[in-house]
Amino acid sequence: MELAERSVVDPALGDRIVKVNHAGEHGAVSIYMGQILMARITAPAMVDELIEVRSHERRHRALFEAELQRRGRARCRSYWLCACGGLTLGLITGLLGEKAIAATTAAVESVVLRHLTEQLAVLQGLDPEAIAAISAIIEEEQQHHDQSISHGADGFWRRVLTPIVSASTESVIWLGMRL
Ligand SMILES: [Fe+2]
Ligand SMILES: [Fe+2]
Repeated sequence: MELAERSVVDPALGDRIVKVNHAGEHGAVSIYMGQILMARITAPAMVDELIEVRSHERRHRALFEAELQRRGRARCRSYWLCACGGLTLGLITGLLGEKAIAATTAAVESVVLRHLTEQLAVLQGLDPEAIAAISAIIEEEQQHHDQSISHGADGFWRRVLTPIVSASTESVIWLGMRL
């Protein structure tokens, strides 16, 4: 069922979205953690930037965590899946170097931005607090995406990684919305 249809039948849609976004931000922190570890060897010039981006993702995670607590909702059951999957993805792509790191960020953030935009549309008039949390992060996610493109997230690794990373990100969001 499309998100727009679910908003009609699911009064807790905002809660679900906050829960999934919280787990997703944890996944993002984990990806960058893995990449930072490997980039110290494979792409040392990127490390400072990756550390800064991870600090944004930690802030995003804290924002959704606070929103979950305010609602008295538990973490998503996909939280640890996001952590393990994210860390694995981060370690592997970090090992492959600058272009693979940038291609991963471009793919993840593209999917994330598409979902955030869709979430904002379906939550209009339903859940102002969830809208505020999403609106607070969207500009930084766009910045992460654009920064990765400036690193030359194109060519071989873009072609190889985009389908895998996009499909994994989509699956984890799909699953999180149903857990
Ligand atoms: Fe984020
Ligand atoms: Fe991001």
